[in-house]
Amino acid sequence: MAPRLEVCGLTVELPTRAGWIGPVKDVSFELAAGETLGIVGESGSGKTMLALALMGLHPPGARRRGEAWLHRAAGNGGSGPGNRFDLLSAREREMRALRGREISMVFQEPMTALNPVLRVGTQIEEAIRVHRPDLARSEVRRHALEAMKHAAIPEPQRRARQYPHQLSGGLRQRAMIAIALAAGPSVLIADEPTTALDMTVQKQILDLLQALGGELKLSLLFITHDLGIVGQIADRVAVMYAGRIVEEGPAAKVLRHPRHPYTEGLIRAAPRLARERLESIPGAVPALDHLPPGCAFAPRCSHRVAECDARVPDLIRAAEDPENHRARCILMR
Ligand SMILES: Nc1ncnc2c1ncn2[C@@H]1O[C@H](COP(=O)(O)OP(=O)(O)O)[C@@H](O)[C@H]1O
Ligand code: SF4
Ligand SMILES: [Mg+2]
Repeated sequence: MAPRLEVCGLTVELPTRAGWIGPVKDVSFELAAGETLGIVGESGSGKTMLALALMGLHPPGARRRGEAWLHRAAGNGGSGPGNRFDLLSAREREMRALRGREISMVFQEPMTALNPVLRVGTQIEEAIRVHRPDLARSEVRRHALEAMKHAAIPEPQRRARQYPHQLSGGLRQRAMIAIALAAGPSVLIADEPTTALDMTVQKQILDLLQALGGELKLSLLFITHDLGIVGQIADRVAVMYAGRIVEEGPAAKVLRHPRHPYTEGLIRAAPRLARERLESIPGAVPALDHLPPGCAFAPRCSHRVAECDARVPDLIRAAEDPENHRARCILMR
């Protein structure tokens, strides 16, 4: 079966006063129907830019290279060659038709993504009407209530009449999820959707997203800086560092047997994963206009040797699981 989302060698570059910088470099992955892929990395590793580039919401002036294909679900209009969309060469008008209908995104801070002066119900209805102008008002309302139920919003009729500021942080995030799902997309990108929430609410939203994955056969790209969350929700994980994927594999495998020193560092720094005492990774993510010549992690890596600085290491397949597990490190050889 073809994957829902197929990304191959995606590179995003931005113009700055110091020249072009590359927040996303040569990123490749596949996302199958009903699968959850966790994208994890410290702040500044390019996760949001990757998501925005796939949604066609990257900053003006940015340039994208590579390939990104969205394969439409059979239920959304059949199969065949006409049912894949080239996300990188689609025009803005075509992207508007895809966003919400085929691929949606939930952002970290729902308050900035919601319109403060419109009732929640109106915003969900709007997300449906954009794609289904033919629907009668009563039908739109019915679909909106259904979306609210999918997002497990209690008392949906009452909540629909409220404004965003009248909702708690958790309910606002649920409202965002209802908006994102209202037009029935098959791919959902969730960019740190629980980072602004307290632990209990965070858990509820994670449970909800996981349930939706099964119920709606949703393919989920789940972005987080917290490797602990990945263990709870993702089937597979891709670890990003300075714009590149440095390790990729089944979530359980990567968490238990990480192969890249950066992933090891993230595990030692994650409260829910660290086996001994918590230990943060020394140093900081390098500035994109001052990247080391070889492995971008080298300045922070305790295994560094001269070879690490010669060139950017390739993603190398793990000998024990070559089909599924890869890491961008010379130690893999
Ligand atoms: N509009 C922009 N102009 C210049 N640099 C940007 C812009 N947006 C993001 N960046 C840079 O791109 C890198 C990746 O950012 P981002 O994708 O937001 O990382 P993450 O989501 O992993 O924290 C960072 O170094 C950030 O400073
Ligand atoms: S390539 Fe070298 S510097 Fe980079 S992570 Fe591997 S050992 Fe460390
Ligand atoms: Mg981000």
